[in-house]
Parts: sequence; C-alpha cells; structure tokens
Amino acid sequence: MTTQRIAVIPGDGIGPEVAQVGVQVLARLAQLKSLPLSFEWFDFGAERYLKDGTILPDGFMQKLRDDYAAVYFGAVGDPRVPGNEHAKGILLAMRFELDLYINLRPCLLFDERLSPLKGKGLPHLQLIMFRENTEGLYTGTGGTFKKGTPDEIAQEVEVNTRKGVDRILEAAFHHAEARGLTKVCMADKANVMLFGHGLWRRAFAEVAKKHPKIQAKAMYVDALAMDLIRQPEAYQVIVTNNLFGDILTDLGAALTGGLGLAASGNIHPGRVSLFEPVHGSAPDIAGQGKANPLAMLLSGSMMLEHLGHGAASLLLLQAVSEQVKHGRNTPDLAKALGCPVGTTQEVGAEVLARLELLTGA
Ligand SMILES: NC(=O)c1ccc[n+]([C@@H]2O[C@H](COP(=O)([O-])OP(=O)(O)OC[C@H]3O[C@@H](n4cnc5c(N)ncnc54)[C@H](O)[C@@H]3O)[C@@H](O)[C@H]2O)c1
Repeated sequence: MTTQRIAVIPGDGIGPEVAQVGVQVLARLAQLKSLPLSFEWFDFGAERYLKDGTILPDGFMQKLRDDYAAVYFGAVGDPRVPGNEHAKGILLAMRFELDLYINLRPCLLFDERLSPLKGKGLPHLQLIMFRENTEGLYTGTGGTFKKGTPDEIAQEVEVNTRKGVDRILEAAFHHAEARGLTKVCMADKANVMLFGHGLWRRAFAEVAKKHPKIQAKAMYVDALAMDLIRQPEAYQVIVTNNLFGDILTDLGAALTGGLGLAASGNIHPGRVSLFEPVHGSAPDIAGQGKANPLAMLLSGSMMLEHLGHGAASLLLLQAVSEQVKHGRNTPDLAKALGCPVGTTQEVGAEVLARLELLTGA
C-alpha cells in the first residue's frame, strides 16, 4: 500500500502540545496495526509569521492536493498578531481553497457526568453535526457604504448554491445510512429567509426522497436549539448551513463535555482533508501541561477513518472513551469526573498504554 503522507501543522499556543501527543499516539497505532502513515511537520503559525512574514508559502496548497492524504492541525491564534491575520490565512484558506465543504463534528458523550444535563439518563448521547463549510454567511461577500458615517450601510451576503446545499445534504444522509442511523434533521430559518433557506428546504425534500429509509425532518434553527436542550437524545444526524452550524456545534460540544473533547473534520470526500480539535490555541493555559489532548486524539480517530483505517479509528475511539471513564484527566474534565488530574503528556501516555492493551501488543 502506498504511504499516506500527513501534513502536521501544530500552530500556536496549546496547538503544539496537543499535536505532539496526537502524532505520538497515531504513529504508535500505525506501527501496531501496520498502517502506511508518515507524518511531516510544518511550522506555520504566529512564530513563523512574526519571524519572516510567511503565512503559507506559495504552492503549498497545490503540494497538499498533490502529495498529501490529510492535514492534522492543532490550533492557531496568537495575541501578538493583530487581528490574527495569519490564522485566517492558514485555516480559512485551507477550508476554502481545498473545498473542504463538510465540517463534521461528532458530539459524543463518553460519561454522563460531563454533561450539564447529567441525571437525565443520557448514557449513549451521540449527535453527529454536518455544517456546510464553504458558503453561507462566511464567504466575505458584501461590503460597506459610507463607512464610519452615521449613514453607514453594511451588507453581509449569504451565499447558498444548489450544488453546495445538495452535496452537504447528501453527505449527511450518506453518513447516516453507512452507520445504520435512522434520522437526519436539517436546521434552517425558512420561515423568514425565504430565498436562501427556501432552496435548502426544496433540496432537503428531494435528497430525502432518495433515502427513503431515513426519517428526514426539517426544523427552524431556534426550535431545534431549544429542543436540543430538552431532548438531545431525539436527534442523530443534524445538517445545517455555515452560521447555524457554527452555533449548534458549540451547543453540541457543551452538551457532551466541552472543548477538551470536541473533534472535527474539514472534509472533501476522496480528497486531502483536514482534521483538528474544535478548540483554539488557549493562550490562558499554554505551556502549563493543562491542555486536554483528547480532542486532538478524537480528531486523529476521524482522520484514520477518512484514510480508510476504520478498525484503527474505532480502537482509538475506545481508548479515549476508557481514558475518560477510568484514567487521569486534565483539569477541564477531572473535577466533573472526580478523577485524578494528569498533564497533557500523562493523559497521552495513558491512552497509548490502553492502545497497547487493546491491540494485545
Ligand atoms: N481552529 C482554531 O485554530 C481556532 C478555534 C477557535 C479559536 N481560535 C483562536 O484561539 C485563540 C484563543 O481563543 P479562545 O480563547 O476564544 O478559544 P479557545 O478554544 O482557545 O479557549 C476557550 C477556553 O477553553 C479552554 N480550552 C480550550 N481548549 C482546551 C483544551 N484542549 N483543554 C483544556 N482547556 C481548553 C481555554 O483554556 C479557554 O479557557 C484566539 O486567537 C482564537 O482566534 C482558533
């Protein structure tokens, strides 16, 4: 099997701390399961930008398309860079230029004690969120007129293409079918955003027809947000546009243990795709060994699945789940779990030991 090259971009703040653990664990898992993975590190981030002005070098995007199977990304953001312009140039550029139209965020509750809804009996809560990642209100389409005057006009245009809507809806239904799930819910605001979200409604009805075994339901996003707090267990796959997805995925993360456990994939099926924890560079805890590496590891598990290594992906998921329930954990989880506190490195080492046990090494 040809080697699958993975570009590792650790980035800023806690990014390098969690990326180090992530690569250490994935590389050992690759060894244990004979997976043909290689990891190559790139130093793009605030430090490099401040040193020589590089955000991403010319030709890097093409290199990723031609030579790499995936990008394993830490986090970017540094208070020394005004407006975080380097971060936009790195992360948003990759999302748009590589056409990573699926932002996939599984919100998995590993232990009920981590949810603000604890006590409700949610032992198997799983919300799989599909956020459209290349259109909507985040394309920068729009402008200002008479800026800085009392008559200022600012317009932010929402872009909805039929092609873009169809493909994210198809991805959500396909995911549900492939995993034996039975429900897909679409969130929109078609009652007031008649044109753009009218398109989403029509596309949803047509795509749903092609998947008759899946229970398809379209909801207004405000109603869905309320219901996700009332009865999250009623939902399985949720699909929505860029802005609503941004908000609902944070809600999903909060319901299932917070940023330390929230993983994501920025995916174009069959092409180089990017996997990263949802959290940012967390300058408030950087360099203190407090960063939870589990979101990075769960993003690694998603990357393994994308690369065709489903069994290894599940092993890593299981090791992380056991770690949450039975291991030491970083301070963001330890209090709620009532478990001993471990550093980023210590938690990573325990997950590694669990993998060795699970694979019988
Ligand atoms: N994808 C990305 O790279 C990304 C995403 C969000 C924010 N950012 C950037 O990160 C910087 C900080 O942003 P922020 O503070 O709003 O968000 P953040 O996600 O970095 O941190 C929010 C809070 O969560 C905590 N936290 C985050 N990740 C954690 C982890 N793995 N373990 C334990 N605690 C964790 C932090 O300590 C902080 O209190 C900013 O520059 C922002 O632009 C980058």
